[in-house]
Amino acid sequence: MMDIVPSGKILGATVQGLDLSQPLTEENFATLLAALGNHGVLRFPAQSITPAQLRDFSSRFGSLQRTVSSANEPGIPEVSILSNIVENGKPIGIADAGQDWHTDMSYNRTVGFVNVLHALIVPRRDGRALGSTSFANMHAAYDDLPEDIKQRLEGATATHDFNKFWENMRARPGSERPPLTPEQRAKRPPSTHPVFLTHPITGRKVLYCNPGYAIRINELDPRESDEMLEMLFAHQLQPKYQYTHEWTEGDVLMWDHIGTLHNAWPDYLPHEHRLIKRCQVMADRIFDPAFLPAAVRDARAAAGQ
Ligand code: SIN
Repeated sequence: MMDIVPSGKILGATVQGLDLSQPLTEENFATLLAALGNHGVLRFPAQSITPAQLRDFSSRFGSLQRTVSSANEPGIPEVSILSNIVENGKPIGIADAGQDWHTDMSYNRTVGFVNVLHALIVPRRDGRALGSTSFANMHAAYDDLPEDIKQRLEGATATHDFNKFWENMRARPGSERPPLTPEQRAKRPPSTHPVFLTHPITGRKVLYCNPGYAIRINELDPRESDEMLEMLFAHQLQPKYQYTHEWTEGDVLMWDHIGTLHNAWPDYLPHEHRLIKRCQVMADRIFDPAFLPAAVRDARAAAGQ
């Protein structure tokens, strides 16, 4: 029997009793979607799954991002490898993925819905796990915004640009990322999204803006936009909205991008190895009411959303 145990914090729940190597029943799919909306971050402990099983589970939630890269699981372009391990002089994965506050694929026309990560090696020092991942709750951040800001930004849009995050990473000491070429930039042009999105599961508003990619509030003049973004970033990253997941080998962690921001902490050294396999699920189906199980639609309606 599947059991969802809330962390009791601003985000997070542990899902007990579900073996992700097995196909997901419709009933469990509905329960997981509702839990994602309510808790934002779900941990499935002690999972022993193959990369293909990680892909199959993740693909139930929407289309998967596919990349052609040496940092992918061989033969499975939907599974990328996040790691600082170097074998035969070559990195086996992406060493610096997600190391700043952001929301995956907010720069894309179709934004990210969830990430699903499976931890295989967790760095530790003096018995303490390193390389934790923090999250911030954007339902709560929206709810707490001052009323005049809510009114001023109602209907406003923000531009999100992949190059902002890339350049921030490049500016870090020791970064080996080259600048994006014009061709790479053309493949990922900036995208525009409402600053306040209605969350497809909860039906509540969230603050959909993040320091990693948001560069401009389009309806404000440039100076006002800069000031507003600075205020929104400071607001949404207040410690009271944050929750940190400390990894254990075997954890599968799944989180909702629409209602959270996240940040992977690079507090480990090159010899302190971290190995995680990741699927990125696009929000290409979750906004379609027909995709939502009846139980989720009913819960939204019962909450008056
Ligand atoms: C990510 O942003 O998808 C990576 C998060 C992590 O490695 O903890």
